[in-house]
Amino acid sequence: MPLVYAARAVRENAYAPYSKFKVGAAVRGKSGAIYSGCNVENVAYPEGTCAEAGAIAAMVAAGETELVEVAVIADSPHPVPPCGGCRQKLAEFGAGHVMVTLATTGGAESRHSISELLPGAFTLDHMSDVAGGDT
Ligand code: THU
Repeated sequence: MPLVYAARAVRENAYAPYSKFKVGAAVRGKSGAIYSGCNVENVAYPEGTCAEAGAIAAMVAAGETELVEVAVIADSPHPVPPCGGCRQKLAEFGAGHVMVTLATTGGAESRHSISELLPGAFTLDHMSDVAGGDT
């Protein structure tokens, strides 16, 4: 099943009473299983969570820590790019070459790799001096 179908379905459950902007996301784990999530807003605005974060949390809760494909969908004129925080979350669990499909409910799509979305990502390698150095 195309991953974007799962993202489209879960978007219906988004809780977005403040922005009125419903987003759905789905990730495919290395096992092939699909995990989906939607944005969940809060009256204390910063406590809201993005669709991508929900999908990643579902994957990790199921015992997987590697994603191999991502899809995000929203009802917008152009495919919506993940926020900065979500780019970092995707990079935590997906290799740089993993493709992210950004879609609109109207059928537009664009595709980008995680490394295109987050060039120069901060990774564990950047802490290797600290990890191996004085503590
Ligand atoms: N949002 C997402 O869930 N994912 C994105 O990639 C962009 C933004 C949500 C957060 C908030 O609930 C609403 O969209 C408006 O920013």
